[in-house]
Amino acid sequence: MDNMKNPWLKLAVLLFMWVSLDCRLSFGADTISANQSLSGDQTIVSSGGNFVLGFFSPGNSSNYYIGIWYGKISEQTSVWVANRETPVRDIRSSELKISDGNLVLINGSGVEIWSTDIRTSNSSSVVAVLEDTGNLVLRDGPNSSAPLWQSIDHPTHTWLPGGKLSLNKRTNRSQLLTSWKNSEDPAPGLYSLELDPAGTNSYIIRWNRTRQYWSSGPWDEQSRIFRDVPEMRLNYIYNFSFHSNENESYFTYSLYTTETISRFIMDYSGQIKQLSWLESSRQWNLFWSQPRQQCQVYAFCGAFGSCTEGGLPFCSCLSGFHVKSETNWNLSDFSDGCERTTRLQCEEDPGRVTGKTDKFRESPNVRLPESARSMSAESMSECESSCLEYCNCTAYAYDSDGCRIWMTELLDLQQFSGDGSNGRSRTIYIRLAASEFPNSSNNNGIIIGAVAGSVGLVLCLVVFGILRWRRQRMINPKVEGSLLAFGYRDLQSATKNFSEKLGGGGFGSVFKGTLPDSSIIAVKQLESINQGEKQFRSEVSTIGTVQHVNLVRLRGFCSDGTRKLLVYDYMPNGSLDANLFHEENSKALAWKTRYQIALGTARGLTYLHEKCRDCIIHCDIKPENILLDAELCPKVADFGLAKIIGRDFSRVLTTMRGTRGYLAPEWISGVAITAKADVYSYGMMLFEIVSGRRNSEQCEEGKVRFFPTSVARVITEDGDVLSLLDPRLNGDAPVDELSRMCKVACWCVQDDETHRPSMGQVVQILEGVLDVNVPPIPRSLQVLADNSEHIIFFTESSSSQSSQTRSYTSNASSQAKSNTSSASS
Ligand SMILES: *[C@@H]1O[C@H](CO)[C@@H](O)[C@H](O)[C@H]1NC(C)=O
Ligand SMILES: *[C@@H]1O[C@H](CO)[C@@H](O)[C@H](O)[C@H]1NC(C)=O
Ligand SMILES: *[C@@H]1O[C@H](CO)[C@@H](O)[C@H](O)[C@H]1NC(C)=O
Ligand SMILES: *[C@@H]1O[C@H](CO)[C@@H](O)[C@H](O)[C@H]1NC(C)=O
Ligand SMILES: *[C@@H]1O[C@H](CO)[C@@H](O)[C@H](O)[C@H]1NC(C)=O
Ligand SMILES: *[C@@H]1O[C@H](CO)[C@@H](O)[C@H](O)[C@H]1NC(C)=O
Ligand SMILES: *[C@@H]1O[C@H](CO)[C@@H](O)[C@H](O)[C@H]1NC(C)=O
Ligand SMILES: *[C@@H]1O[C@H](CO)[C@@H](O)[C@H](O)[C@H]1NC(C)=O
Ligand SMILES: *[C@@H]1O[C@H](CO)[C@@H](O)[C@H](O)[C@H]1NC(C)=O
Ligand SMILES: *[C@@H]1O[C@H](CO)[C@@H](O)[C@H](O)[C@H]1NC(C)=O
Ligand SMILES: *[C@@H]1O[C@H](CO)[C@@H](O)[C@H](O)[C@H]1NC(C)=O
Repeated sequence: MDNMKNPWLKLAVLLFMWVSLDCRLSFGADTISANQSLSGDQTIVSSGGNFVLGFFSPGNSSNYYIGIWYGKISEQTSVWVANRETPVRDIRSSELKISDGNLVLINGSGVEIWSTDIRTSNSSSVVAVLEDTGNLVLRDGPNSSAPLWQSIDHPTHTWLPGGKLSLNKRTNRSQLLTSWKNSEDPAPGLYSLELDPAGTNSYIIRWNRTRQYWSSGPWDEQSRIFRDVPEMRLNYIYNFSFHSNENESYFTYSLYTTETISRFIMDYSGQIKQLSWLESSRQWNLFWSQPRQQCQVYAFCGAFGSCTEGGLPFCSCLSGFHVKSETNWNLSDFSDGCERTTRLQCEEDPGRVTGKTDKFRESPNVRLPESARSMSAESMSECESSCLEYCNCTAYAYDSDGCRIWMTELLDLQQFSGDGSNGRSRTIYIRLAASEFPNSSNNNGIIIGAVAGSVGLVLCLVVFGILRWRRQRMINPKVEGSLLAFGYRDLQSATKNFSEKLGGGGFGSVFKGTLPDSSIIAVKQLESINQGEKQFRSEVSTIGTVQHVNLVRLRGFCSDGTRKLLVYDYMPNGSLDANLFHEENSKALAWKTRYQIALGTARGLTYLHEKCRDCIIHCDIKPENILLDAELCPKVADFGLAKIIGRDFSRVLTTMRGTRGYLAPEWISGVAITAKADVYSYGMMLFEIVSGRRNSEQCEEGKVRFFPTSVARVITEDGDVLSLLDPRLNGDAPVDELSRMCKVACWCVQDDETHRPSMGQVVQILEGVLDVNVPPIPRSLQVLADNSEHIIFFTESSSSQSSQTRSYTSNASSQAKSNTSSASS
């Protein structure tokens, strides 16, 4: 090994590795025929180069599998695995070949460890062809059309476009999409997606093939969505369709655009996910997943594990238990759960000779596990004793629902944070060996009391001292550059322990507070930050230097371990959505104010895009993020957060309810995000400033208006622009300004970002310096009108956070074509 220090040798080794990499043998063909076999580094490649088949080894595993992966992306991503449960170690001596009319995998000892397992006529003309769709097909001769076997009928964890997940109506068995065990083990995991065998035309996800924990709701053929997945309306990528005959029913999907590389997986996190490949950042971009919350996945943390939403990692062991398999746990595979650190007394000493008994540890604010047994008990101690009677009893709960005990491993426990205001929050008492508790012997009560008393006194003094010290510090937060650096307690006391909530978004809640100098502040508690201290401070100080009359000013920050908070000036008039969308007619914003808000917001964004040292893309422009000061002057909030939140930002954004109606198509199709994405969102917001309503709203039974389409039609057909104005203004707006604003809005939401104006141009147009032509109708708006059942935008009332979805239903395209105004009622 010492020899490795020799640089020449190192170089030689590197060279050898490079050469051997480059000389990978490859058939260069898409077919394995009867007289060929595949082993070692050999691969076959589909005719268009989209997919590759060969041996691969996931992650850091030393096991090898026959799999299919994408040929045109840099991160090896498997879409199908043959020998999921029977890996091979040595790929040089293993062979994939056609044998007796089957495709089989033979390991180094000549044992057949995987086979397509079909009965054929032992024809020597059987071939296996890898098609450009990712489907591996076994055929009797290259010209035979009916496949003998195809991989797409035996999906593993990926549902490829063109594939189907079906229910066999003759056997009532459904095909499963089964998660991997973890990122390094493709063996079938605990989670699977299938079409409900009961025939409800819904997809369900089950744990361990039994316990269902998610359902898509039934398919609605008219609006072409699953009932409980309303966000399918915003799906620009997947075209789902339902098919049924006497033998089977199934869904399949295709992609609207062939340029996108997208996949649908049953992830080992227990969630189904849709991801698109983002070539610019060379990573998979998650744009949809269900169930939305990790802790909704049944038993995600395994036996005696506890799931905490928003925690990282999500799982921890209950106190008194430790991780069963650290290797898997480190791979985010928590399914093995936890085991007792100390055996129970009753197991050690079944006859209770020592007289010691097990004890219980209180665990408040939890979601209780299922399968409890109800006991009759008058009191807590009676309930406790009834648990102690059984050695296999692991826990009890005693509250207004009576006494319940658990005779099994505890599964699916969730830890809620904070005040227990969650309706399902309960307290459970978990049984542990007595030795797990600190020795609280009771003989010397007085001495212990005295000791405790004096310790208490000292503690009080210390706490008092700290409080005083804190209070003194409070008056002088440290100054860092242009920003104030607050301590966490400073902000806790300034906000009265975060009691007055102003709002909450995907990145954290905002609270009102008052500084000692009686200036009013808004404190944002950031969530999901996994950024280093140094990087956080540097980003924050960059934001601190960005100051403009149309941008909310950052006053300071707090960085206390994982707790990151930002302190802003408080804006007394709240956010634009609250001012724009409320019901009261008398308070409708006047046209002049609206125009100034549009212009001011555009100026703020221009500053972010063009005038700062580094261009800042806001990424989340919507009325909720435009705040109004005492004079109703608009100020853009939350800029710069995209960089602080980092990689998670797009995930949060694209899965967040209430934001999607403002997102530019490139967020979902997976190309790079530029400042033009902000222009798109700004355009969507302009429409709402004109109408005073959300862009898509249900107006009457089943009918939905999508406002931008109406605007585009009126503008291009030179119709009556005043008909577009918020009716509460009674036509009180200059037609030229109104028309200018509508035209700019249509330009801003063009599908092709190069057709959208820059924010600087928008300012000039709104100022009247630059003229604006009649815009073309954006393709997505056109498709929406002509083809309303397929591509649909949707918005949700995000202020209420409820899932009140406004739907855009699909009635006849001809109607939308011939009569736009009927849709805008
Ligand atoms: C393999 O079989 C094909 C067709 O059956 C034939 O064209 C080819 O020459 C054979 N190759 C070898 C090495 O036998
Ligand atoms: C493999 O292990 C190394 C070090 O343990 C780690 O940095 C790397 O991320 C792992 N790779 C994968 C694909 O898990
Ligand atoms: C299939 O054919 C091959 C050669 O033609 C022969 O060796 C083999 O035994 C046959 N298998 C069966 C099941 O008939
Ligand atoms: C091949 O598989 C058999 C059965 O699973 C196993 O006993 C044998 O050790 C394997 N051989 C090699 C070289 O992995
Ligand atoms: C397959 O089709 C091609 C052309 O369509 C033909 O030339 C060839 O003979 C056919 N092969 C067989 C085995 O039928
Ligand atoms: C399958 O389910 C349907 C309806 O649920 C039922 O009528 C039918 O008898 C079942 N068939 C079998 C083979 O279990
Ligand atoms: C899953 O179910 C099987 C029986 O169907 C059972 O043997 C196994 O223990 C279960 N797995 C877990 C993790 O509970
Ligand atoms: C969606 O899929 C259906 C069924 O495959 C097809 O008829 C329809 O043309 C597709 N729609 C679009 C817009 O591609
Ligand atoms: C259903 O299965 C039967 C028997 O396998 C077959 O004859 C029939 O064509 C199938 N029907 C459809 C619509 O595929
Ligand atoms: C798991 O991760 C921890 C912390 O990163 C590390 O200390 C431990 O060695 C890892 N354990 C295994 C079995 O990989
Ligand atoms: C627990 O123990 C009781 C009595 O010892 C027994 O009846 C019961 O089946 C056991 N339950 C389980 C889940 O092992």
